[in-house]
Amino acid sequence: MKRTTGILLVLLLCLVLGSCGQQTDGENKPASVVVGFSQLGAESSWRIANTASMEQAAKEAGFGLMMENANQKQEKQIDAIRSFIAYQVDVIVFSPIVENGWDNVLTEAKRAGIPVILMDRMIETSDDSLYTSYVGADFYAEGRKAGEYLIRKADAMNAEHLNIAEICGTKDSTPMRDRQKGFMDAINGDSRFTVVASVDGDFLRSKGEECTIQLLDQFGKNGIDVIYSHNDSMTLGALNILEQKGVLPGQEILLITVDGEKEAVEALKAGKINCVVQCTPKLGPAVMSLVKSLTDGEHISKVTHPEEGMFTDFDVLTDPSVEGF
Ligand code: AHR
Repeated sequence: MKRTTGILLVLLLCLVLGSCGQQTDGENKPASVVVGFSQLGAESSWRIANTASMEQAAKEAGFGLMMENANQKQEKQIDAIRSFIAYQVDVIVFSPIVENGWDNVLTEAKRAGIPVILMDRMIETSDDSLYTSYVGADFYAEGRKAGEYLIRKADAMNAEHLNIAEICGTKDSTPMRDRQKGFMDAINGDSRFTVVASVDGDFLRSKGEECTIQLLDQFGKNGIDVIYSHNDSMTLGALNILEQKGVLPGQEILLITVDGEKEAVEALKAGKINCVVQCTPKLGPAVMSLVKSLTDGEHISKVTHPEEGMFTDFDVLTDPSVEGF
């Protein structure tokens, strides 16, 4: 392994990272493989489950995990990646908060000969050689599923016209862009639907609440028939406000959401959410298996999408397979 640069540099890095010391495997022996992992934040239950999945999978694989949480700041992710390069980790894994602005730091990683795995979110670049592999959801397909559900629901309701309010995830992130595009492509050309507003909820529950207050103020409860929200945290915030304002979620306003956390699936079972498109946070095992292949010198695939489905109010929700993460 390539971790032999000057002791001073490493000590300095330890001060900066505040997290190193010798990287150990699950049994406290020095790890033979060290993964530098830049997590983008802790904005949602999905993200917290994703971090736990990475930690657990690294432990099970016997890899050292040097993790930095960027608290939703791209600059912090760039700093973390630079620290991993200086430390000469074996593989860098990161979940990019937004798609643009990574070329410089990834060029530095490439020059240092450190492979990069994008986990959960993609980047926009003209040079695909800046990353070795992407592991994460097909967000476009998720958006399409949400739109296709709405078409089916409108048919079942014999709806003539439905006004949709969209609560979006973090601006310029892959799930925000692709969940929006997939949904719009699915409903496009169907004159029963009008998107009356698309507002930024940043994937946060608190913002889901704020957005819903603002939407109800602007359109009134009769001016919105459907809320399509890009994640469960924002949806649960919206649901809370609807109930506070005396609006029946799932009936007077349909709720379509993405992720599949326990609380959202329970709300679906209670009739308060209509459709939950799944997006699994449990990406750790797939990532660590790619790290192993890479460090064994094997070729790995450029893109890996986990299998994901959806739960809706058309399903038999008492089935034990209907459960959240
Ligand atoms: O990138 C995945 C998205 O990020 C999840 O849907 C959301 O909950 C998270 O914050």
